Amino acid sequence: ERYAIILAGGSGTRLWPLSRSAMPKQLLALNGEDSLLQQTARRLLPRVAHDKLITVTHADHRFEVMGQLHSIHASLADNVLSEPIGRNTLPAIAWAVASIAEKDPKALIGVFSSDHAVSDQVAFNQAWESAEEAALDGYLTLFGMQPTEPAVGYGYIQAGSALKKKTSSKASGAMSVSRFVEKPDAKTARAYLKQGGYYWNGGMFVFRADIFLAMLKKYQPAIHIAALSLSNGGGKVADFDTYAALPDLSIDYGVLELADKVAVVPVDMGWNDLGSWEAIYQQRDKDEQGNMVKGEVLAVDSQDNLLWSEHGLIATLGLQNLAVVQTRDATMVCPRDRVQDLKQLVASVKETH
Ligand code: GDD
Ligand code: MG
Repeated sequence: ERYAIILAGGSGTRLWPLSRSAMPKQLLALNGEDSLLQQTARRLLPRVAHDKLITVTHADHRFEVMGQLHSIHASLADNVLSEPIGRNTLPAIAWAVASIAEKDPKALIGVFSSDHAVSDQVAFNQAWESAEEAALDGYLTLFGMQPTEPAVGYGYIQAGSALKKKTSSKASGAMSVSRFVEKPDAKTARAYLKQGGYYWNGGMFVFRADIFLAMLKKYQPAIHIAALSLSNGGGKVADFDTYAALPDLSIDYGVLELADKVAVVPVDMGWNDLGSWEAIYQQRDKDEQGNMVKGEVLAVDSQDNLLWSEHGLIATLGLQNLAVVQTRDATMVCPRDRVQDLKQLVASVKETH
């Protein structure tokens, strides 16, 4: 049977001061009324039953996550797994998969990040379906996004030969993966783009439970053992000592870079990682002056700014190309082309405030 797992335990700093450890990116409404987590759940529900959708998050966000999911469908809040300490994506996925496998060892599982936007639902559905065909043949299958720049925050997938003929109009059939490289440096990323045939990893994975657990046992045996012990008994709150003993490891480094039977479904579905204020500026509607405005804002003789107020009024005069984000207790101002350096600013804020 078909299951889906949503990963909702990340802690983002690139959208500070809106994203905080108390309110990470996936719980924020960045591009509409719904949070990215809620959008993710809605995107999955056309293809997965309510009681087969499992969300994994950090204990600190458990109730916020349950509340957000509950507002979409009450039973979604019943299947939230809570980690006492963040150990990155592989332990989270392993625990959820092992819990599903207890009931359904050959379950067909899709794992989905909760921190990006997808605008083309039809293309998404078709890609998921193509990915499932490859998963049934034993592949751990990824969604491949066309890269547009040598970004260093993504996994890079080198596609090999086609496994199946193209089956639907918007998503290609699956191709084998010759190589997976997580977050290469800028020079390597540029070389990949020049060479061609590479895709960005969209942070979505489709596989059969038994196949994934066999890969996990082979490449990360300690996580495999812990996952079986966590799922045994079916609790929704992980034991602290078991969890804390796990390595901090993402599925990308821990399995994808090592496994041989990996496939990719290239798809154009309006995917946007919304990973920076600049990405949000690009994605949202602008006014006649080129300003992306949210909340209470007065922009006089000001062009091409991102002006985002969660609290109080932002009034600007004669400003161009800035990002201004104001929350109740912090205001961030920087040139739009410096937003990738926000991590450094947040690090200094943490030291001094
Ligand atoms: N439950 C849980 N626990 N979820 C987590 C944890 C954790 O410890 N850490 C991260 N997540 C969730 C995040 O909330 C997000 O939805 C997803 O897992 C991916 O984690 P990120 O931390 O955002 O990963 P990334 O953006 O650096 O890289 C991943 O995503 C890229 C695409 O957005 C990788 O898979 C890359 O290869 C990929 O290109
Ligand atoms: Mg991410």
